[in-house]
Amino acid sequence: MTDTNQKIIKTGVVGWPISHSLSPRLHGFWLKKYGISGDYQAYAVQPEDLGEFLKKMPEQGISGLNLTVPHKEIVFPFLDDVDETARRIGAVNVVSLRDGRLHGTNTDGYGFLTNLKDNAPAWSAASGPVVVIGAGGAARAAIVSLLDEGVSEIRLINRTRTRADQLAEVFDDPRLVVCDWEKRSANLSGAALLVNTTILGMKGQPPLDIDLMALPPSAVVYDIVYNPLETDLLQAARARGNPVVDGLGMLLYQAAPAFEAWFGQRPEVDKILRDHVLEGFNG
Ligand code: ATR
Repeated sequence: MTDTNQKIIKTGVVGWPISHSLSPRLHGFWLKKYGISGDYQAYAVQPEDLGEFLKKMPEQGISGLNLTVPHKEIVFPFLDDVDETARRIGAVNVVSLRDGRLHGTNTDGYGFLTNLKDNAPAWSAASGPVVVIGAGGAARAAIVSLLDEGVSEIRLINRTRTRADQLAEVFDDPRLVVCDWEKRSANLSGAALLVNTTILGMKGQPPLDIDLMALPPSAVVYDIVYNPLETDLLQAARARGNPVVDGLGMLLYQAAPAFEAWFGQRPEVDKILRDHVLEGFNG
């Protein structure tokens, strides 16, 4: 589908630094696949220049932007509207210019949950308690989507307990229970889903040190890390027969609603796309 004015729809991702972003590769694949005359670029913008950059979107002809580190949490004052989802997650990853106004939303929670459902179809909110490791931005997106999905209990575990306590305070939901970092292995007992939202296991980082012995064999183990695709955590889980979900699908799925909002085409997330994005990893 093409823009009726035959004008190129300009979009992109803004971050600092930005060189490692896989988003141009991802959106570029869809633009080509659907024959859309659009453009998706990576923009390196320092935090202090973000407001000015967004203000200039109309004159630059840019109609949509993804935000990445460190802009997601600091963008709020520069937007005209921020939806409920982004407010609850405390971060904006999609900015769209409509009728001269800048709208912010967040699709990370959607990406998190859709990836889970797609790759672990037997899991449901009714399956049992969830253990979330980490209390940063990624954890917050995961928690919002899991609470909205109707899970009965989330055991929130973070190295720095005060950060987990603060998150629990923000959500003020009795289903969110903070547990001690030291007791992380024991707290896997009876869980139906374990999620790692930390950077542990990522290339260049130490692995997440956790003993899976108490985790039921049917529990899904979900690592939002995608480089490497199979972290030590997923390897250990797979070896004992637990279903596993890697983090690449979260990146792919969070992009789909933004692409649809900007280009009017709901894009497909499939294996061809996944393989194409994987080729973008330079080890
Ligand atoms: P993001 O917004 O991507 O989630 P973040 O806010 O920096 O990133 O959060 C990173 C998460 O990884 C945090 O939960 C952090 O724990 P702390 O709050 O204690 O810092 C966790 N993390 C990072 N390095 C860690 C390590 N070596 N051991 C345990 N947790 C770690």
